[in-house]
Amino acid sequence: MIDRIVNDPEPEDVREVEIEITLRPRDFSSYIGQERLKENLQLAISAAQKREEPLDHILLHGPPGLGKTTMASVIANEMKSQIRVTAGPAIERAGDLASLLTNLSDGDILFIDEIHRLNRTVEEVLYSAMEDFKLDIMLGKGPSAKSLRLDLPRFTIIGATTRAGDLAAPLRDRFGMIHRLEFYTIDEIEQIIKRAAKILNVKIDSAAATELAKRSRLTPRIANRLLKRVRDYADVNGDGFINTELSHKALGLLDIDDLGLDASDRRLLLAIIENYEGGPVGLDTLAALTAEERGTIEDFYEPYLLQIGLLERTPRGRKVTHKAYKHLNKTRPKLDSQSSLL
Ligand code: ADE
Repeated sequence: MIDRIVNDPEPEDVREVEIEITLRPRDFSSYIGQERLKENLQLAISAAQKREEPLDHILLHGPPGLGKTTMASVIANEMKSQIRVTAGPAIERAGDLASLLTNLSDGDILFIDEIHRLNRTVEEVLYSAMEDFKLDIMLGKGPSAKSLRLDLPRFTIIGATTRAGDLAAPLRDRFGMIHRLEFYTIDEIEQIIKRAAKILNVKIDSAAATELAKRSRLTPRIANRLLKRVRDYADVNGDGFINTELSHKALGLLDIDDLGLDASDRRLLLAIIENYEGGPVGLDTLAALTAEERGTIEDFYEPYLLQIGLLERTPRGRKVTHKAYKHLNKTRPKLDSQSSLL
């Protein structure tokens, strides 16, 4: 995958991952935004603590970069619990899951990122583990195989996924709380940028923070990344202080426009405009047109384009909106008298 500022950091990009961790809020009071989710979680945490019980299993879903992992570590911190972190594709066999679960203690949290990518066998073992804190494993194969039922500690699973719809219903049903992380407001992103600037010792004026916020796709991970790129620019081309003139130039160099779209977003919208008169066009066609995977389009491009009203999903496919034509300075083809206006 090409290295876009919107992508997840590659695990081998150690520096990027380290900075992301430094900037993570550790408790609800320093976590900006997602107010409703925080309120719900705070209530559930207080209730669990009062009853001296583990927290219900929690599923967090929503577009990448909005803070699912961060929220899981905040929950663990607020519960004063240990957290173990893994991801769906890393748990290949039922045995891998068994060893993760048997190494937990009462009250621990197991965070499973990309939980929609668990394979079926592993998923089935997880059902009874989540429901009854029992581990059903088969020993041996064929007619001499024996099943064994082990008691597990009372743990909490926090699952994260960009695609709640891809989760098997029996797995989804085992989560006591299912919450979607929403895009942040520009104001919240601005506060996140100012907080990160303070931690990283970056000097930025308020107008430049607003400008960065407007171009951050309403996504904290992108805001923090843009801040770092603009800081590089300010260190090399100025005295390190970020004002609007400087942030404007730095963002221009990154080819990020005033709605936060990069060249790939614009290419996707233009592909629909130029080849399909604005759509509707099916996801597979769009993937072929842009040489991107379906999943990349669904996870990385679409949520923000839908959120800001540049793209629409219709039963017959994706359509660009009037606003997208305007943003890209394109003229909309004339509709014939049979067609209705959008
Ligand atoms: N850094 C990344 N996400 C954040 C958030 N929601 N609040 C504060 N700092 C953050």
